[in-house]
Amino acid sequence: MKFINPCLLAVTAVLFVNCSAKKGVTSLKDVYKKDFYIGTALSADQIEEKDAKVDSLIKKEFNAITAENIMKSMYTHPQKDKYDFALSDKFVAYGEKNKMFIHGHTLIWHSQLAPWMEKIEDSTDMKAFMRDHITTIVSKYKGRINSWDVVNEALNDDGTLRQSIFFKTLGEKYLVDAFKLAEKADPKVDLYYNDYNIEEPAKRAGAIALIKKIKAAGGKVDGVGIQGHWRLQSPSIEEIEKSILEYSALGIKVAFTELDITVLPNPWDLKGADVNQKFEGSAKMNPYPEKLPDSVQTQLVERYASIFKLFLKHKDKISRVTFWGVYDGQSWLNDWPIKGRTNYPLPFDKDLKHKQAYDSILKLKKTKE
Ligand code: XIL
Repeated sequence: MKFINPCLLAVTAVLFVNCSAKKGVTSLKDVYKKDFYIGTALSADQIEEKDAKVDSLIKKEFNAITAENIMKSMYTHPQKDKYDFALSDKFVAYGEKNKMFIHGHTLIWHSQLAPWMEKIEDSTDMKAFMRDHITTIVSKYKGRINSWDVVNEALNDDGTLRQSIFFKTLGEKYLVDAFKLAEKADPKVDLYYNDYNIEEPAKRAGAIALIKKIKAAGGKVDGVGIQGHWRLQSPSIEEIEKSILEYSALGIKVAFTELDITVLPNPWDLKGADVNQKFEGSAKMNPYPEKLPDSVQTQLVERYASIFKLFLKHKDKISRVTFWGVYDGQSWLNDWPIKGRTNYPLPFDKDLKHKQAYDSILKLKKTKE
């Protein structure tokens, strides 16, 4: 008897729908629809829809967006009495037009500050800055932005508070103040504390203590953002799982907000994502300028699969998983912490083609359903 392809036969309407779904209409956002948002970080060019191919990939695969840079204070608030919302208006409009979850990144962060902010020296000026900055920006997008990183990277790796310009002028009270100001400006928006390495035990303990303190002092914290700038071998799945459990035990949502996995050697075994760390390059530090060897590709596939398997196990606690960039060619990891390398950290390659890592993330759902 001749083989009859059930997809072609379309025996029943249900079968027909199933087959067409499998024939390539699938995407990350569709497959994970019932689990959590799948997000990406957009560059200025992507917000302005400059490249049609990239744009259609973004719309097909993702249902949540973060601005990779343009909502940082140096761009939104370049001078004391001057805000610039040209690009952030476009970013929010893009999200609305495409019915995406819109995340604001970020309000209070010690990096990528406007030069005038770095000169603030006393508590009165810093308080005034924080009030004006947070109130103006959060009120402007009230009801349109779904969640905010209110404070980004307030901790050192040992869990103590970073001696940032905010801490130096205001002491630790700046943390509660920031959350209270944000809530006042938009009582309904979700408010997050966001940081890197907070799945590591010492820093995690610091983050838990910090979130508890803010809440005890009357601040509203709805979630924690674990950035997720990770490596092939670390952090371990066990530490990530402990983090999901311990943070969600605080009664808050857990988001993975800047996920990418470097496959390149790290200078001095660097962990984390301190944007101010820079190192000299060398051929040894850029081992795959043309192509990722199959053996490393396989490790990346397995790493993404085990991470998403864990995310699915705890989908009830996870609100969003956002990749830090749309495709490899655009990733910040090509220039950090060493300039001009070729990295392969995302599910899409430099030509926008989906990688085996992408297939492994999709497959986790297909085999289950
Ligand atoms: C990075 C951007 O990707 C780069 O383009 C920029 O030059 C530096 O900042 N943690 C964060 C992000 O919270 O805002 C950083 O983004 C990466 C580390």
